[in-house]
Amino acid sequence: MRRLLAEGIAGLVVVDNLLSAERDNVPADPRVRFVQGSIADQNVLDGLTDDFDFAWHLATYHGNQSSIANPLADHDNNLITTLRLLERIRDFKRVKRFVYAASGCVLAPHTFGDTTPVEEDGAVPFDLDSPYQISKIVGEFYSVYYHRQHGVPTVRARFQNVYGPGEILGAGEWRGTSATVWRNVVPTFVYRALKKMPLQIDNGGVASRDFIFVSDIVEGLLRCALAGAPGAVYNLASGQETTILELAETVNRLAANSAPVQFQPQRAWDRAGRRVGSTQKSREELGFEAKTPLDLGLEETIAWTTANLPLIERAIAKHAGRLQIA
Ligand SMILES: NC(=O)c1ccc[n+]([C@@H]2O[C@H](COP(=O)([O-])OP(=O)(O)OC[C@H]3O[C@@H](n4cnc5c(N)ncnc54)[C@H](O)[C@@H]3O)[C@@H](O)[C@H]2O)c1
Repeated sequence: MRRLLAEGIAGLVVVDNLLSAERDNVPADPRVRFVQGSIADQNVLDGLTDDFDFAWHLATYHGNQSSIANPLADHDNNLITTLRLLERIRDFKRVKRFVYAASGCVLAPHTFGDTTPVEEDGAVPFDLDSPYQISKIVGEFYSVYYHRQHGVPTVRARFQNVYGPGEILGAGEWRGTSATVWRNVVPTFVYRALKKMPLQIDNGGVASRDFIFVSDIVEGLLRCALAGAPGAVYNLASGQETTILELAETVNRLAANSAPVQFQPQRAWDRAGRRVGSTQKSREELGFEAKTPLDLGLEETIAWTTANLPLIERAIAKHAGRLQIA
């Protein structure tokens, strides 16, 4: 949103039911019209008219662990949302691109051993790890179908692990597990390191992720909208693989946290231990390259988290009693 406003966009409609978000995070700008509601709600959909140039569909039931705890809520907010939104806009004439936020975790190989960066046309496994992953790939199937059948100019942007300023731990409503508060690994590690708490590491920290800074993802989403081929899919990845142990050591160093890391068992559901995306297609076809090195991105995230601790702690405190913060 902030990037679009800075680019001088004339107007922006944001639809969000605040399930995993805070209202305070929506910029106060007269060009932003905020609609609080589900994108699966017919009244909300009826309020969208054919006067958009671009649509970015980012709504999700965040994320893998919450979806395992509540598959039906995942269906309602991560799967049917995509179908209903595409049904609504399928006859719109003005929209130039509909960009769908897909997830690289779906195609990640189920291994902690050797692997290579995953390309866009890699095989989709049948034995997915969570309802979230099922919803994300079904969203891709629908994006392809609505392009072929109805000519909707869909482009799928397949994210790797996004991090950076703006991600608020505990944002939104309780979603059944501690993952409501401890969202993704980076904000969790950064918060705990700033509070001088031990970082908790599953399975010896051998799993890896391809971390991509939020401003790079935003750039990728804009390029998908402006230059993506209708019907196509592009990885938005850094192409750099970092193990969770390396990430923990880096965050502790940058945040001057001397608490020793705490090792825990492997998460039973997560079999895609190594995750990294190929950057070749998005570089060649979109001219996209993630520019922010991990150290720099983490420094910015630490600075933002430090400056926004009251906001973050208010969001975490909403879930007090359900979760031990230790
Ligand atoms: N963050 C990552 O590392 C990552 C990785 C892969 C894919 N993605 C995808 O990127 C998108 C954004 O993810 P994020 O990490 O920013 O998550 P997020 O939880 O911050 O954002 C999702 C937003 O969707 C909203 N939402 C949920 N249900 C809704 C509904 N029914 N109607 C309207 N809004 C609804 C939430 O309140 C939230 O603001 C998602 O589609 C996600 O699957 C993210």
